[in-house]
Amino acid sequence: MKAVMVSNFGGPETLLWKETEIPQPKPHEVLIKVKAAAINPVDWKVREGMLKDLMQLPFVLGCDVAGIVQEVGSGVDNFKEGDEVFAMLDLTKGGGYAEFVTTEAEFVALKPKRLNFEEAASVPLASLTAWQAMFDEAQLKAKQKVLIHAASGGVGSFAVQIAKAHDLYVAATTSTKNIKLIKSLGADLVIDYSQEDFTTLCQNYDMVLDPLGGEVQSRSLKCLKKGGTLVTIVNLTCQEAAKKVGVTALHTLVRPDGDRLAQIANLIDAGKIKPLIAQILTSSEIQAAHQLSQSGRAQGKIVIKMQLN
Ligand SMILES: NC(=O)c1ccc[n+]([C@@H]2O[C@H](COP(=O)([O-])OP(=O)(O)OC[C@H]3O[C@@H](n4cnc5c(N)ncnc54)[C@H](OP(=O)(O)O)[C@@H]3O)[C@@H](O)[C@H]2O)c1
Repeated sequence: MKAVMVSNFGGPETLLWKETEIPQPKPHEVLIKVKAAAINPVDWKVREGMLKDLMQLPFVLGCDVAGIVQEVGSGVDNFKEGDEVFAMLDLTKGGGYAEFVTTEAEFVALKPKRLNFEEAASVPLASLTAWQAMFDEAQLKAKQKVLIHAASGGVGSFAVQIAKAHDLYVAATTSTKNIKLIKSLGADLVIDYSQEDFTTLCQNYDMVLDPLGGEVQSRSLKCLKKGGTLVTIVNLTCQEAAKKVGVTALHTLVRPDGDRLAQIANLIDAGKIKPLIAQILTSSEIQAAHQLSQSGRAQGKIVIKMQLN
């Protein structure tokens, strides 16, 4: 099969399709024929060497896939050959930018019926991040208030919709060009970060979801009520400051979870969540896909459609 093998850490030019063996499913694993793979910022961070102590060269990049089950390992009874599925893969194993990938069956869910493979591939990592941050970490309940930064990003665009599907009040930050888009995702209050100060517009919130870090993270503490929670998915730098004002600040790292993904698929099929796709590129445009992700300006998810011969 062909796969994007990382043989040395570096820039997008290191992303090359190479021939490698088709992996074989071990017990409790499935082999998926990949129809589409999504790009996540973690992919280019790993490409640059972020997890170099955990990942042995060469390896195949990619954590989000949608495709068709080709074979199941022993002990797998919830999937069969021919099932249309999607999955977030283990971050430290990757394997998604490839014609075939094996992964634990417990990371896999049936693809939402409403979505094609490209749309489905865009869902797992970003939506699971949003869900786990809001409900596993911050334990939000209906009617509570959440401020979501970078609402036009992969994580933010799912977070806004998942929060609204749970009857939360949502404020969201974005730039002028994306205001209409974020309103269309259902946010109650859309804040133009280039014109407005979110700390004056949002106060006494239960949670802030922070995909940005830096001064956005530290200023966000002002938006929380006592006992509120800031969950960052980037570097946590405001823990001490948070303690001083009586709020919690924590970092979370997304975990693969097929059961939760199945729940998200149900919300998609019920019309409550729709992936926001920035661009669908072909396999040969993998380097451009990373450049777009690395620009930090993508409106939603970037997807690679597998078209290899
Ligand atoms: N810890 C974890 O488990 C985990 C999981 C997923 C992602 N992450 C990390 O979280 C970060 C975000 O991921 P992502 O996939 O959502 O990124 P992304 O899709 O690349 O985010 C791009 C978006 O960010 C917006 N943005 C940039 N600066 C902004 C600002 N100051 N205020 C509001 N919006 C701003 C941009 O909108 P404008 O053009 O309108 O500014 C753009 O649409 C990445 O660093 C990623 O590695 C961590």
